[in-house]
Amino acid sequence: MNPIAVITGAGQGLGRAVALRFAQEGMTVVLVGRTLAKLESVAAEVTAAGGSAIAFAADVSDSAQVEGLRALMGTRFDHIDILVNCAGEALIRNLEETDDMAWDRVININLKGPFLMCRALVPLLKQSANGSIINILSKVALKGYGGVSAYTASKTGLLGFTHSLAAELDEAEIRVVAICPGPMDTPMRWAATPDHDPKLLVKPEIIAETVCQLASLPRGVTSGDILLQTHHYD
Ligand SMILES: NC(=O)c1ccc[n+]([C@@H]2O[C@H](COP(=O)([O-])OP(=O)(O)OC[C@H]3O[C@@H](n4cnc5c(N)ncnc54)[C@H](OP(=O)(O)O)[C@@H]3O)[C@@H](O)[C@H]2O)c1
Repeated sequence: MNPIAVITGAGQGLGRAVALRFAQEGMTVVLVGRTLAKLESVAAEVTAAGGSAIAFAADVSDSAQVEGLRALMGTRFDHIDILVNCAGEALIRNLEETDDMAWDRVININLKGPFLMCRALVPLLKQSANGSIINILSKVALKGYGGVSAYTASKTGLLGFTHSLAAELDEAEIRVVAICPGPMDTPMRWAATPDHDPKLLVKPEIIAETVCQLASLPRGVTSGDILLQTHHYD
């Protein structure tokens, strides 16, 4: 049976690239995001590329909606093989302009979201012959940049979460790996830094290839944190 993968943030950008790469392997992909129309469009691309896709609209920071996803997965599958926590939002704002609502929003989406997704789906991952959780962080988790303290807190928190969960799931031989991309050629970056030359940004397909390679490692083999960036933008 071909692997079954759940990808959050799958409607565009890196999540879409991961879905299309997995489709090349003939995987079944469950596409999660808040905007159903975007997910359905990616689902059509996945099908055309040789995979099969289910589009499921959910906000990963909402435990009731993640529970809805878990319930659907439980009725459709007796296991899943790969969870890619890719959904995220940027927040470029100095500390003194960061109000409580903005702080809560970025922490909820970028940190609570992966927690809820892992908690919901680890039981199904434990039934896999070769389970993987790949968390998408950012280079900000490894190096301090100004004007992004809330976003950085969310991603650094996710780094610690990833390390602890990796240790917790060692015995079950589920690899839990953090990928920390530098600036990527996706809609998030186009909005954040419109002056950056897209040709000099890391392509989401490169990150997607790494995600695919990690998930294809033999059972019992895992990896440390991975930083991927171009030479051009720090
Ligand atoms: N772009 C960069 O330069 C860069 C660099 C380093 C790390 N990253 C990280 O890489 C990941 C992917 O980013 P990207 O560049 O592909 O961003 P993107 O183009 O903005 O796509 C993000 C996706 O996440 C979904 N999403 C956002 N909040 C969500 C929520 N609460 N629940 C479910 N889905 C949600 C969005 O869809 P809906 O709005 O329809 O939900 C969208 O499809 C993010 O975690 C980001 O922090 C990006």
